[in-house]
Amino acid sequence: MTYFADKQPLVADIFSRYPDSPQGRRSALMPLLREVQDAEGFVSELRMAEIASLCGTTATEVRSVMSFYSTYHTVPTGRYHLQVCSTLMCALKGSDELWDELVTQLDVQPGEVSPDGRFSVQKVECLGSCGTAPMMQINDDGYYENVGPAKCARILESLRHDLQPLPDNLVPVTITADGRQTLASGEVVGTSITGLTRLPEHAGGDV
Ligand code: FES
Repeated sequence: MTYFADKQPLVADIFSRYPDSPQGRRSALMPLLREVQDAEGFVSELRMAEIASLCGTTATEVRSVMSFYSTYHTVPTGRYHLQVCSTLMCALKGSDELWDELVTQLDVQPGEVSPDGRFSVQKVECLGSCGTAPMMQINDDGYYENVGPAKCARILESLRHDLQPLPDNLVPVTITADGRQTLASGEVVGTSITGLTRLPEHAGGDV
């Protein structure tokens, strides 16, 4: 059974958001992927082929688009998909140690799901919250920031009991009037975005 066979109105709605052209049809690839992943937790080879056929492209192109975004999964994930930022700022603040702790505690490697179906893990690139490094995202739900050893242990303990702690920030992250982020605890973190240096205006001429 194909996923979209009985969802023609949904497919028509998605395609109506884009120009009626071959390029427009290919632009619908991302929302179609999101639709499948939200329903099934990942996008299988079968679904890639189905989406490719809808968009007038190849399964290889679908896979290549998916590979660019860590948000799409080609293999099943656990009920709690833990994504640890491994880019420079988080690495400097201890994301390697955080990662080691997770895979040791959960006994799960990337691409695997723990035997109880609860956990999967993934290293991801910068999640755009470098001022609160090291940070982790659970599912698509939100950001867990400044995750040191004690906080990591608390989060895992809660998840083992299927009690997902509230994230420090829901996505998209809210910035307060003074241009800063605040953790769920009320702690103000990172620097302000309001005092940033403006780049000089381009004066014209060749660049
Ligand atoms: S380096 Fe980790 S959020 Fe940017």
